[in-house]
Amino acid sequence: TITTKFVYGLPKAELHVHLEGTLEPELKLALSQKNHIDIGQTNVEDIRKTYKFNSLPSFLAVYYSSMMVLQTEDDFYQLAMEYLKHAKENNVRHVEMFFDPQGHLARGINFDTVINGYYRACQDAKALNIDAQLIMCFLRDMPAQSANEILLMAQHHREKIIGIGLDSDEHHNPPLKFAYQFANATSQGYRTTMHADIDQVNSIEHIKQALEIINVNRLDHGTNIVENPDLVRWVAQTQIGLTTCPLSNKFISDDSKGKEILDLLDQGIKISINSDDPAYFGGYISDNYLALNTEFEVSKEDIIKLAKNSFETSWISPVQKQIYL
Ligand code: ADE
Ligand code: ZN
Repeated sequence: TITTKFVYGLPKAELHVHLEGTLEPELKLALSQKNHIDIGQTNVEDIRKTYKFNSLPSFLAVYYSSMMVLQTEDDFYQLAMEYLKHAKENNVRHVEMFFDPQGHLARGINFDTVINGYYRACQDAKALNIDAQLIMCFLRDMPAQSANEILLMAQHHREKIIGIGLDSDEHHNPPLKFAYQFANATSQGYRTTMHADIDQVNSIEHIKQALEIINVNRLDHGTNIVENPDLVRWVAQTQIGLTTCPLSNKFISDDSKGKEILDLLDQGIKISINSDDPAYFGGYISDNYLALNTEFEVSKEDIIKLAKNSFETSWISPVQKQIYL
């Protein structure tokens, strides 16, 4: 049987976590008071009550509005450091963290303020024995021109960013909307990944665009390839990583997708377990492994395989990888 202690202690990599999704009610309250921002609530319990959703858009509305408390470089640093302390408790050894610059630029915060705060936390993660990297995401519900602009801003910080991702509302925002920006990012040496979500209209078409045309290095969510044997074969052969998030799945589509996850694992897909937006979805990475186990009695071998997949499909150097595998 799988114990909580075993899951927490297992060395793991986290490849799908949004830094802005790690904003706990306690920190949201503290920052709102420090920065004199009216968030509509004045205590932790009332903030927690607003962290309730039944769909991606209803989640995103709270997620974006919460960002208003993040104002200074130190605020971004503190947000990332609090996540990294949770990562440490979960024995996360390597993490690739998403961040959403456009959510901050839209509020008049400078790109440099955001990246410098987050990057300082990445440097301080070394003292926690965690290797921390940043993935810059384009918001897919914003115009492609806006993605061009942040790609240009990122050029001044090239060495601080390992890859480019794509998140936010997928409906009517297919991967091909950003074909040019992803080609440009690839030519600059960034790794690439994209959300290809659960339960979205046209999700199979979106997954095909991401894999066959954009040629992403990894795919976020994407578990509904199970419906399509050709896609399963493609993903198995290319060894492209799928990052899945059981607690997030439960919130957004009322189903952890545990059955699909274990099925894909059996079929040789390099799938990993991640926390997505842990402050909002009720658990950090170990709780996501455990959520799967509560539902399906997963074997120890499968848990180990999932953790191994997280290192294998991470973007650490091959030399570094040998340390973990
Ligand atoms: N941005 C932050 N969290 C997200 C999620 N779960 N899905 C899509 N975009 C996001
Ligand atoms: Zn996500």
